[in-house]
Amino acid sequence: MTHVTAPSSFADPLSDADIVLIVSGGIACYKVCECVRLLKRAGSRVRVVMTEAACEFVTPLTFEALSGEKVHVGQFCDGIAHIDLARKADLMIVAPATANTLAKIAAGLADNLATSTVLAAACPVAVVPAMNVNMWRAAPTQRNIERLRQDGRLVWGPAAGELACGTSGEGRMIEPAQIVEYARSALSPKPLAGRSAIVTAGPTFEAIDPVRAVTNLSSGKQGYEVARALSSLGAEVTLISGPTALAAPLGVHRVDVRSACDMQSALESAASRIRSERGREVDLFVSVAAVCDWRIQNASESKLKKSEAGLPKLELTENPDILATFAAAHPQVVCVGFAAETENVAEHARVKLDKKHCAMIVGNDARKALGSENNALVFVTAAGVESLAEMSKAACARSIALRCATLLGAAR
Ligand SMILES: Cc1cc2nc3c(=O)[nH]c(=O)nc-3n(C[C@H](O)[C@H](O)[C@H](O)COP(=O)(O)O)c2cc1C
Repeated sequence: MTHVTAPSSFADPLSDADIVLIVSGGIACYKVCECVRLLKRAGSRVRVVMTEAACEFVTPLTFEALSGEKVHVGQFCDGIAHIDLARKADLMIVAPATANTLAKIAAGLADNLATSTVLAAACPVAVVPAMNVNMWRAAPTQRNIERLRQDGRLVWGPAAGELACGTSGEGRMIEPAQIVEYARSALSPKPLAGRSAIVTAGPTFEAIDPVRAVTNLSSGKQGYEVARALSSLGAEVTLISGPTALAAPLGVHRVDVRSACDMQSALESAASRIRSERGREVDLFVSVAAVCDWRIQNASESKLKKSEAGLPKLELTENPDILATFAAAHPQVVCVGFAAETENVAEHARVKLDKKHCAMIVGNDARKALGSENNALVFVTAAGVESLAEMSKAACARSIALRCATLLGAAR
C-alpha cells in the first residue's frame, strides 16, 4: 500500500496566497480585523491598505499587529506602493466597501492609495459592500454596482439584517467567515465548472416514536466540507443532509432530511430535477452520510409510555442501501462512497468498491473521524489503494474533490 503525505495540489488555495485588503471608512471596519486573522490562519499573506476615513474607525496599528505587515494609508508615503501592492497580489478584497469607495472604483478614479491600488490590479478584485439600507438602495449605488459587475469585479453581499445605524434591511456586510470562504472559492481552480454533484452528509434519525429516535455520532462535518470543496472547484452542488447543527456552505443547495428512507427519496428527486434542468444525468454522487443500517419496523405513531407491562419491544428492519441502489440504477453517474470502519479500513473499502458499483471508495477510521476536526483517508479505486496522512477535514475534502475531478475527467 502506498502512503503519501498531502501533495501541494491538495493545499488550501488560501495558503501562500497574497491578498491585498483595502479597508474603506465604514462602521464594519472592526469586523474586517477578524478577516485578517482568519486569512492569516489559513496561510495567506495579507497586506492592508486603509483610506483616511477607515483610520477614523480602526487604527492602522490594529491591522499591522494582526497582519504582521506594514499598513499603507497615504498615496505619497511609500514610493509607488499602489503598483508594488498590485503587482504581487493574487486577490484584492475591498472590505468594507463604502458607497463612496464603490462609486470611485466604478468610475475608475484613483484619487487615494486605495482606489489607485484597485485600478492597478491585474488580479481579481472583490468588493464587499457595507452601508445603510437607503445608501445601498440609492439609484447611484445600484448603478455603480451594476457597472462593477460589468467590469468583472466580484461583488460579495451585502446581507440583510440589523444595521449599525439602528435600522435594518439590506446593506449589512457579510460575515468575516463568509468573506474568507468567497476568497477561497475565488482563488480555486475550477475544473468542475459546468458539472453537477449531489452529496449526502450527516447522520440519519430513525424514529422510535414521534419524540425518540435511533441515530449515530456523525457530525456531518466531512460531508459538508466535501460539498464546499466541490462547489469551490466550480460544481453545482446539492447537499442532502441528515440532522446536523451545521450551516450550508455558500452557494450549495441544501435539502434537509431525517431518515434513511427520506434521504433516498430526496436523492432520487434531486437527481430527476437535475436531469430535467440539464437534460442529462447528474455527473457525480458522493455519499458521505452515515446512514443508519436499520430502522424501527414497529415505530409508534404516538409517544410510547412507560408501563408496568415492561420494556417496549423494538423490531429492527434493514434500511435501503442508498449508495448501491443509486449506483446500480444510474450507471452513467460517477459514484463515490465512504467506508467508515473501526478496523482493516482499506480491506473493507476494497470490498465495498465492487459491491456498491462505485468509481472510488474513501475509507476512514470511524473512531478517529467521529466528532474530530481531522481525518485520515484511504482512497480505493480500480487502480489501487492509496493512504493519506491525517489532516483537517477541509483538507481531506479538497483531496476528495480533486480526485472526483480526475474521475470525471476520465468519464468525460
Ligand atoms: C459613524 C460613521 C459611520 C459610517 N458608516 C458608513 C458605512 O457603513 N458605509 C458607508 O458607505 N459609509 C459610511 N460612512 C460614511 C463614510 O465614512 C464617508 O462616506 C467617507 O467619505 C468614506 O470614505 P472612504 O470611502 O474613502 O473610506 C460613515 C460615516 C460615519 C461618520
